[in-house]
Amino acid sequence: MASSLLSELMRILLCAFVLSVHSPFEKKVHVHGAEITVPVSSLSPSANCTASTTNVNSTLKLVHKYGARSQLFDGGPINHTQVLLEDMARVKWIQSKISNSISGISDLESAVNLPASYGPSSSSYVVTIGLGTPTKDLTLLFDTGSALTWTQCEPCIVSCYSQAEPIFDPSRSSSYANISCSAPSCLNLPSGTAQQPNCSDSTCVYNSTYGDQSFSSGFFATETLTLTPTDVITNFEFGCGEDNEGTFNGFAGLLGLGRDPVSFLEQSATQYGQYFSYCLPPLSSCTGYLTFGRGTVTSPSLNFTPMVTIGQSSLFYGINITGISVGGNPLSIPLTVFSNAGAIIDSGNTFTHLPPTAYAALRSAFQQAMANYTSAPPFSQLDTCYDFSGVSTITVPVITFSFSGPINVDLDASGMFFWVSASQVCLAFAPNIADTSVSIYGNIQQRTFEVVYDVPGGQIGFGAQGCS
Ligand SMILES: *[C@@H]1O[C@H](CO)[C@@H](O)[C@H](O)[C@H]1NC(C)=O
Ligand SMILES: *[C@@H]1O[C@H](CO)[C@@H](O)[C@H](O)[C@H]1NC(C)=O
Ligand SMILES: *[C@@H]1O[C@H](CO)[C@@H](O)[C@H](O)[C@H]1NC(C)=O
Ligand SMILES: *[C@@H]1O[C@H](CO)[C@@H](O)[C@H](O)[C@H]1NC(C)=O
Ligand SMILES: *[C@@H]1O[C@H](CO)[C@@H](O)[C@H](O)[C@H]1NC(C)=O
Ligand SMILES: *[C@@H]1O[C@H](CO)[C@@H](O)[C@H](O)[C@H]1NC(C)=O
Ligand SMILES: *[C@@H]1O[C@H](CO)[C@@H](O)[C@H](O)[C@H]1NC(C)=O
Ligand SMILES: *[C@@H]1O[C@H](CO)[C@@H](O)[C@H](O)[C@H]1NC(C)=O
Repeated sequence: MASSLLSELMRILLCAFVLSVHSPFEKKVHVHGAEITVPVSSLSPSANCTASTTNVNSTLKLVHKYGARSQLFDGGPINHTQVLLEDMARVKWIQSKISNSISGISDLESAVNLPASYGPSSSSYVVTIGLGTPTKDLTLLFDTGSALTWTQCEPCIVSCYSQAEPIFDPSRSSSYANISCSAPSCLNLPSGTAQQPNCSDSTCVYNSTYGDQSFSSGFFATETLTLTPTDVITNFEFGCGEDNEGTFNGFAGLLGLGRDPVSFLEQSATQYGQYFSYCLPPLSSCTGYLTFGRGTVTSPSLNFTPMVTIGQSSLFYGINITGISVGGNPLSIPLTVFSNAGAIIDSGNTFTHLPPTAYAALRSAFQQAMANYTSAPPFSQLDTCYDFSGVSTITVPVITFSFSGPINVDLDASGMFFWVSASQVCLAFAPNIADTSVSIYGNIQQRTFEVVYDVPGGQIGFGAQGCS
């Protein structure tokens, strides 16, 4: 077990491909009570980062996947349609898992009915870890909505998708070991993978499925996981996937941070006490962080809301939304609209998905406050868009989320919009199909906050200006 101060203070950088470039312009943010005025250019993905990282002890880089794609391989520019499709598929995947756990139907049965299923592959941030002895770098999608950590392994039987880094070869690692079928961790697998493990030559075989299309299957094994030279987790249980299918965007696999015995969170509990926080930066060109361990939080003031369980699924991090304000005015939304199906906070969903009743109230108040701006056509289900071409600064109403606590979280300007182009900048919220579907607090809305996951304390914290 790593026990150095640094291990207590494990931090992972969130950064991106234009890291080295710094803008001469200073991002000026003026808060006038219920409104924020920001330069339009500060919202553009092509803007240069002006935010400063608050974390000099970062040990790993955690990168927005489009930044990482440019860094690791030629993944091309952001495909906005793809972002939307992946986001929708993930919503379906999460909602099916939660409603299955409510109704008692197995994950597999209803997953088959999903029209599209990218699942965790829509996860937006990646982290580079080291695996094996000698250690090999692998860039994994970081996911609070799934449990098993897996990577593609040689030999690829049936199929491996293409990935930027060389595929991990367990036969070249002295620390690799198979897990036997009778090991308790093998028997515990179904909750983390949604499928019964099998046995091959008394070795545990897993199949982690993310719906009807994406899966990783192979040997369940242990390895040495290296985060930094002083943050080394030995006998880390992971999936060595020899058959992997789905759109995982060229990355080597997944890092699972959901609540489950097989998750990185629980496996590193002795080191980090099931406590972590991250800050998603305002732009993909900015640096943020992911840190593990109590006492590593950097925000001067944190507001906590209780972590709740949604349905029977303890995998996801549930939170109670109690209200939304626009420009300081609470929207008139009955509390039952939020409490009926509940909500989770998720690192992987791009947008915040609300009950249609709540979304309609938000849209109406936002449109009213933005009446002086030229509206633009909808972008798929994002129906509140503006043409900011030729506009230098905008004044937008503050959007505030209220959670049980009670606490209020005022979104950053970067947490309100999805930038398709300067002439199509859309409110980054979408309605669920029905008020009975679970809400998802997405990653755009989390930008610039230090978000703290205190699992033993049963609470989620928000600290403003964690990386802005
Ligand atoms: C970013 O910085 C570079 C170098 O300083 C500059 O050439 C470029 O115009 C800047 N981009 C934006 C969008 O400000
Ligand atoms: C970084 O780590 C060093 C040594 O562990 C510690 O003394 C220092 O306070 C840390 N700095 C920050 C900003 O956390
Ligand atoms: C963007 O993604 C959509 C959906 O996957 C695809 O149909 C389209 O061809 C892609 N566009 C580009 C330019 O790659
Ligand atoms: C793991 O199990 C597989 C299947 O039985 C076997 O081919 C492989 O050699 C084993 N690896 C080690 C290191 O035991
Ligand atoms: C894993 O499960 C998925 C979904 O049921 C299935 O399509 C796939 O064939 C399975 N893979 C293996 C190797 O069993
Ligand atoms: C185990 O075998 C059963 C029956 O063949 C199959 O349905 C299931 O998907 C397999 N599980 C894994 C993890 O491959
Ligand atoms: C969260 O909301 C549910 C449903 O309204 C309620 O039963 C529960 O007490 C709330 N939990 C907390 C911690 O406020
Ligand atoms: C729109 O512009 C007019 C004229 O400048 C101003 O009086 C009004 O307050 C503005 N409305 C909003 C909602 O900002």
